[in-house]
Amino acid sequence: MSEQRITLSELGEPLVNARSAEIYPLPAHKILKLFHPVVSSETARWERVNAEEAHAKGATRISCHGEVEVGGRYGIIMSRLDGTTLTKSTDSNPLNLFRIPLTLARLHANIHTSHTEKLQDVRQVIANYLDRPPMSFLPVSDRELARRYILGLPAGNSLLHMDFHTDNILVSKHDATVIDWATAARGEAGADLAMTYFLFNEAELFPGISKLQEMLYNAFRKFIYRGYERHYKAIRGMSTEEFHATIQRWYLPALICRLAAWEAPTEVERLRRKIKDIISKLPRSEGAR
Ligand SMILES: Nc1ncnc2c1ncn2[C@@H]1O[C@H](COP(=O)(O)OP(=O)(O)OP(=O)(O)O)[C@@H](O)[C@H]1O
Ligand SMILES: [Mg+2]
Repeated sequence: MSEQRITLSELGEPLVNARSAEIYPLPAHKILKLFHPVVSSETARWERVNAEEAHAKGATRISCHGEVEVGGRYGIIMSRLDGTTLTKSTDSNPLNLFRIPLTLARLHANIHTSHTEKLQDVRQVIANYLDRPPMSFLPVSDRELARRYILGLPAGNSLLHMDFHTDNILVSKHDATVIDWATAARGEAGADLAMTYFLFNEAELFPGISKLQEMLYNAFRKFIYRGYERHYKAIRGMSTEEFHATIQRWYLPALICRLAAWEAPTEVERLRRKIKDIISKLPRSEGAR
């Protein structure tokens, strides 16, 4: 814990009230990510470890500057990047839409070519998710089958973000950088690719939008994804078969990760159905028949 002392009243109004935390401005071009009380201190501390490692490996420009406790809540002090998210970068210039795929592909490839020994093994993280309440819809035998499948996937030491999408990229005038390393882990790049596949193709859009808006946003994100896939494969020298096969392999863990860690009400039923379906096709050992 750093020696810095801050009180809630000194912080003023947050810049952003995000899902896991409030983001407050601090002097000297820094911000405080102050986690909501529901976020466990273990989860929040892992985010700091992940973010520091990502910075050390050159996968983000945002650096960490210690931690604080404010009103019983854990917070990480980070450097501030002036700019907007990649999602909102089209507000000022709609033509920026055409730049998004390459930006995403470059940043993602850069993450995956960074290697780490420090972060948690993604297979272990997702196998542990099977014990969380959102997974209790599965019979124990199915959870064990899924656990065996996940723990049997190839090990890897790539840096993985596991929530890589346009809202977790900040763009300034001259460059773009990745933020929000809460879910980061270590493993085969396929785990992160499968999660990004889900986020761009199957995740809920903004709840409450009209059918027309839904169709439009869906078309945009699929357009972005297609370009991103093309650039990513080119940068990493991957064939289409290889790219799709690795996503296929990691699709079940990605769905479990999404359901256990996110629990978006509009996704729950669909995710449960898909997870059950994939598990029903996994090979069962003789004893489990
Ligand atoms: N280092 C930073 N510099 C400037 N703004 C930041 C920084 N970190 C976060 N923000 C702002 O706060 C927002 C939320 O940050 P972040 O994604 O880390 O929080 P979160 O709770 O994990 O968000 P969510 O779950 O909603 O994605 C960002 O979209 C950005 O607008
Ligand atoms: Mg975020």
